[in-house]
Amino acid sequence: MDFFELVNRRESVRGYLDKPVEREKIEKIIEAGRVAPSACNAQPWKFVVVNDKAIVSQVARKLYDPLISGINKFALTSPVFIVVVAESRNLASKMGKLVKKKDYTNIDIGGACENICLAATELGLGTCIMGWFKEKGIKNILSIPSNKEVTLVISLGYYEDKEPRKKVRKDIKEIMSYNNY
Ligand SMILES: Cc1cc2nc3c(=O)[nH]c(=O)nc-3n(C[C@H](O)[C@H](O)[C@H](O)COP(=O)(O)O)c2cc1C
Repeated sequence: MDFFELVNRRESVRGYLDKPVEREKIEKIIEAGRVAPSACNAQPWKFVVVNDKAIVSQVARKLYDPLISGINKFALTSPVFIVVVAESRNLASKMGKLVKKKDYTNIDIGGACENICLAATELGLGTCIMGWFKEKGIKNILSIPSNKEVTLVISLGYYEDKEPRKKVRKDIKEIMSYNNY
């Protein structure tokens, strides 16, 4: 797929087929995250892949909240989750953070997650990045140390192939300018 077609084809997929995802594909997708850029090459991430059916369903119940207008109900159909944990930064980027007063951890993780979503799209799989979940519950299920942060969870799976939705985005004139704000 041409890159520009790929970025347009990627969309949040909120419903999956009951079909397992091959390990080979999962590893290719994580590899795309692994090579993402990060400030000072800190790579402040760990991707916990959840593909064991029993654990998947436990994690799904920490994403779906029936009390908040059924948010993330579709997670109950996802055969795989990639749980993204923020890891501590290397010395160079810790120094940079002190001097510049900027923490790039979430930015780095965002870039890696986009690589992951695009790789999945290329391989015919759907994803949805989720920021809404019960973090403590997920940490308990996956034995993630309590001092670490779960930044995002990405659902991953096969889905019914159809034309991508039309992207709802701000107009390019609103978000771009040349040589002056
Ligand atoms: C950081 C982040 C958190 C998100 N959290 C959720 C979520 O909890 N549930 C959900 O259904 N979608 C979530 N989304 C998906 C966005 O709603 C979606 O990317 C946006 O509406 C654009 O639609 P598209 O991804 O289909 O192009 C999240 C996206 C990002 C980047």
